[in-house]
Amino acid sequence: MTLADPLRVVLVGAGLMGRAWRDTIEAAPGVELVGIADLDPATAEATAAALGRPVPTGTDGVALAAATGARAIVNATVPEAHHPVTTAALFAGLDVLGEKPVAPTVAQALSLAAASAVTGRLFMVSQSRRWNPQLFALRAMAEDLGTPGSLTTEFFRESHFPGFREEMAHPLLVDMAIHPFDSARFLLGAEPVAAYCESHNPPWSWFAGDAAATAVFEMTGGIRYTYTGSWVSPGRQTSWNGEWRLAAEKGSAHWDGDHDPVFEADVEPTPRTAAPYSGIEGALLVFTDALRTGVPPMGEVHENVLSLAMVEAAVRSADTGQRVLIDDVLADAHAAALQAETNPDVRDALASWPSVRSVLTAGRS
Ligand SMILES: NC(=O)c1ccc[n+]([C@@H]2O[C@H](COP(=O)([O-])OP(=O)(O)OC[C@H]3O[C@@H](n4cnc5c(N)ncnc54)[C@H](O)[C@@H]3O)[C@@H](O)[C@H]2O)c1
Repeated sequence: MTLADPLRVVLVGAGLMGRAWRDTIEAAPGVELVGIADLDPATAEATAAALGRPVPTGTDGVALAAATGARAIVNATVPEAHHPVTTAALFAGLDVLGEKPVAPTVAQALSLAAASAVTGRLFMVSQSRRWNPQLFALRAMAEDLGTPGSLTTEFFRESHFPGFREEMAHPLLVDMAIHPFDSARFLLGAEPVAAYCESHNPPWSWFAGDAAATAVFEMTGGIRYTYTGSWVSPGRQTSWNGEWRLAAEKGSAHWDGDHDPVFEADVEPTPRTAAPYSGIEGALLVFTDALRTGVPPMGEVHENVLSLAMVEAAVRSADTGQRVLIDDVLADAHAAALQAETNPDVRDALASWPSVRSVLTAGRS
């Protein structure tokens, strides 16, 4: 692909996020939406009809990509379909930009990381809340504040989601908390070591599973990251991004999740220009840039997996009452991935990993 070529893309999964992706791809310079697939043909057709120009539709995204000459897919299917759809695309020679979470389990996420390596195709996870100029500004402040000590996120909202979220065992941790967990890693430039979490369901909750949780993570360097949140919290609402406080060696930084972060220290913050990327538009721009330059982007599958590992560790801790080591989650996931893998090349790749953490963090400090 040269700079002059448009990136031909098929959108797979035409539901709520699929419709957001349709509009984003359609508006993006240098990207051409050439097909829309959904298991439900009527959903694909309805999503395509809103474009006001004929766009081929189908039920199989990879077959549609072959028929339309697409180079990449955007995978906005339900989490359970992320592994099969993305694996098929990678082995068909397509690059993939996928919705979060990378997969429902860390084991499947490791299989996808190995499949990306085996095929040599790019698989980037769109963790949309990381692409936020205010979060980038907060990260820059963190760099000016010296060694980080503690980071906290408070997330309190009254949210009604008729459907699967209200039936999940851990709706807050599994469906939502992955965003701040991922942002915390980015903000601190640190990786998770261990998790302790308690979750509960307040008596007035309209969720079947635990709609509230508090998790404490030990991060590399001994930093503590604390997340506390609830989805059944009437009254004062936090931002969808949550409210953030970083307490560091030279001072503190605060972000209400919606406005520019605030710096409080005796040192001056370094003046910086705003980050140019935002939301799923930002993720798409970074993905296309990465395909053109060959430089692995932030959100590349290996880099993303530890955010899902934080979710899995928090859930395991909440269920057992024990402090959970992230390396134990990774080791168990690796064993499960090896056992479940049906592709011999992917299994060989997984079996050759010296350690899961070293493969996931290779090339990063
Ligand atoms: N980044 C964010 O802020 C954000 C917000 C909402 C949802 N999401 C994520 O986006 C993804 C989709 O969520 P949604 O709310 O749009 O769900 P949805 O149920 O509205 O839509 C998913 C669509 O995928 C289709 N599908 C399922 N399996 C398929 C397959 N094998 N091939 C083709 N189509 C298939 C379904 O028929 C459905 O139309 C999830 O991973 C979710 O976590 C992200």
